[in-house]
Amino acid sequence: MAIQYQQEKQLFTLNTEHTTYQMKVDSLGFLLHLYYGARVSGNMDYLLTYYDRGFSGNPADAGNDRTYSMDALPQEYPQAGTGDYRSTALVIRNADGSEYCDLRYVSHEIKKGKYALKGLPAVYAADDEADTLEILLEDSVSGVQAKLWYGVLEKEDIITRSAAITNSGSDRIYVEKAASTCLDFISGDYDLISFYGRHAMERNFQRTEIAHGCQTIGSRRGTSSHQYNPAVIIADKNAAEDTGSCYGMVFVYSGNFMCEAEKDQYGQTRVLMGLHSDLFHYPLEKGETLVIPETILAYSAQGFGNLSRKYHHCIQKHLCRGKYSRQSRPVLINSWEAAYFDFDGGTIYGLAKEAAALGIDMVVMDDGWFGKRDDDDSGLGDWQVNEEKLGCSLGELIQRINDIGIKFGIWIEPEMVSEDSALYRQHPDWAIQVPGRKPVRGRNQLVLDFSREDVRDYIFDQICGVLDQGNIEYVKWDMNRNLTDIYSLKREQGKVTYDYVTGVYDFLEKLIQRYPDLLIEGCSGGGGRFDAGMLYYTPQIWCSDNTDAIDRLKIQFGTSFFYPVSVVGSHVSAVPNHQTGRSTSLHTRGVVAMAGTFGYELNPAALSDEEKEEIKGQIASYKKYETLICQGDYYRLSNPFEDEYAAWAFVSEDQKQALLNVVMQEIHGNMTVSYVRLKGLKPDAVYQDAETGVRYYGSALTEAGIPMPVQLGEYQAYQKYFVCVEDAGAECRIE
Ligand code: GLA
Repeated sequence: MAIQYQQEKQLFTLNTEHTTYQMKVDSLGFLLHLYYGARVSGNMDYLLTYYDRGFSGNPADAGNDRTYSMDALPQEYPQAGTGDYRSTALVIRNADGSEYCDLRYVSHEIKKGKYALKGLPAVYAADDEADTLEILLEDSVSGVQAKLWYGVLEKEDIITRSAAITNSGSDRIYVEKAASTCLDFISGDYDLISFYGRHAMERNFQRTEIAHGCQTIGSRRGTSSHQYNPAVIIADKNAAEDTGSCYGMVFVYSGNFMCEAEKDQYGQTRVLMGLHSDLFHYPLEKGETLVIPETILAYSAQGFGNLSRKYHHCIQKHLCRGKYSRQSRPVLINSWEAAYFDFDGGTIYGLAKEAAALGIDMVVMDDGWFGKRDDDDSGLGDWQVNEEKLGCSLGELIQRINDIGIKFGIWIEPEMVSEDSALYRQHPDWAIQVPGRKPVRGRNQLVLDFSREDVRDYIFDQICGVLDQGNIEYVKWDMNRNLTDIYSLKREQGKVTYDYVTGVYDFLEKLIQRYPDLLIEGCSGGGGRFDAGMLYYTPQIWCSDNTDAIDRLKIQFGTSFFYPVSVVGSHVSAVPNHQTGRSTSLHTRGVVAMAGTFGYELNPAALSDEEKEEIKGQIASYKKYETLICQGDYYRLSNPFEDEYAAWAFVSEDQKQALLNVVMQEIHGNMTVSYVRLKGLKPDAVYQDAETGVRYYGSALTEAGIPMPVQLGEYQAYQKYFVCVEDAGAECRIE
């Protein structure tokens, strides 16, 4: 059992293959955190120290003991009210208006298997792959209860945490703030690594010191956002890509979140991950429960690369669901950058015909096929096929496309409504807006109140009505603005942001139950909702609306810290690029897009015969390497924010194949040579460059690297496939 309980000390130990997590119930019933990090033996309660600290108060039942303070002790789930002045995991407003909660241990249970969360996405595992610890805490005065869940995936080195708050008292209370995870570090100096961005430039790497004071990242936008990803690393000062200690926290949620990192007056560090407290004021009537979304925790003693691979495995094997989570994905061509709104059925069929000739598997009809929708000012909410525009029924179009051996996918944006739509004219009250005020528009559209079941049910029926018209094998689920004007006619306003997200999840769950073989790609103006919550429903997400290969190097680098390549939507688009105006070679665009679920976002009819031939070659290469790319281990070999080149490699689990990818970001006169060092290879094995036949020891490629050619021209890209030569032995000639 990965979870042990020592009765006499009331001490819990959670072990994974390489990590240990420990906590204990102390004599006053508080649940104290003891340790999280590399695997250790023994009881870590010797780490707790008690000193008389000025201006750090003492709970009443500590009596005259002035050395006992919740303001100094490391805790599992700190609450406002106990004398802890740091940011806390939980703030409850009681019926009398006081913000007070004092949770003490009541009981616990250890169970086989991984807990699930009602209505929320969560890591899943077979019963023999995980164990669950459930700890019940209670405030004896208010009756508020907190259930803390810990899921331990021993082999994956993953610990998950979640919590549920129940009002077991008689009066209504409000949850004002709730995190699922608090990590208290009693010693050490740390940096916080977070991923900030904007539309079309998501997930830039940022490393800052966790200093005295509180540093917060988060989202108040109703989605997890382009601006901050709900995933952070807490890194030792000396932690780097392949060395040093670091911890990850990934929030499995697609709405408002908050991560706070604080170094306190005693040099201790606290990091919280949970729901954002702004726009949140969640009422709980007697007997009601609020479930706080899960956080996935991991620790690495070997730097960020090792940490990332733990998350990649966990997300692939224990979060993504459905037949596509472990199956190869269709190479697709999407109509957006090929035609935008300017298409008819013939255009889509034309793309399909080109696709068939090139070896592409699927055509996706993007925005513009429904209602009155020839630009982005109208039509959202009217999910009726515009047959006049298509020149045929949807079923006919799909059939014609299928007949030439091409699969068909379609774009939808179910959460939205245009003011210029039949739906809005009929149900203006279905849009999220404050009565008596004119709502803030985003892309000239409003957000439907998905916290309401009646609204969801109506849209669900409309969407099913479309999906039932033919053999639709893929859906791109978009979400093209953030929430403002938070208000619902049907519920207390403090619930809306949370209930909106669980409403979206409810819709998605129904959709995948009804269409289990449908591949859904998430999207929110590209990567505005690129989070672990969505990945439970959509096994791939369009990474960014920015398809520029050079910008994508940075965007995909940031994305790679937590999310596996198999979930990253990445396409080759036309040049000059539509977002940046930059031109790069087709080869470079192909190499970059191959670090994801591969596809095209251009009009092949505009390409030369040579380019078409090159695309055929790209698709053949992608198909050849797909298992290695999507299921192999991912290694970052450079930092594109700092280095002249971007490089990464995929290495098969058995370490017998490796695909090296390099893109030069800079070129200068009399250019220096870049030596790219591989990772993840067996040092004693011999690897052969499949193209040149040159053989190298793994150790040589790892320690000395391989020189990249110096070639004139910007943004040269190289892809090298190495195969382990089984019979190389001693006679192997090293060239
Ligand atoms: C968003 C998506 C794009 C495209 C458009 C269509 O911006 O990210 O890929 O689908 O919407 O309106």
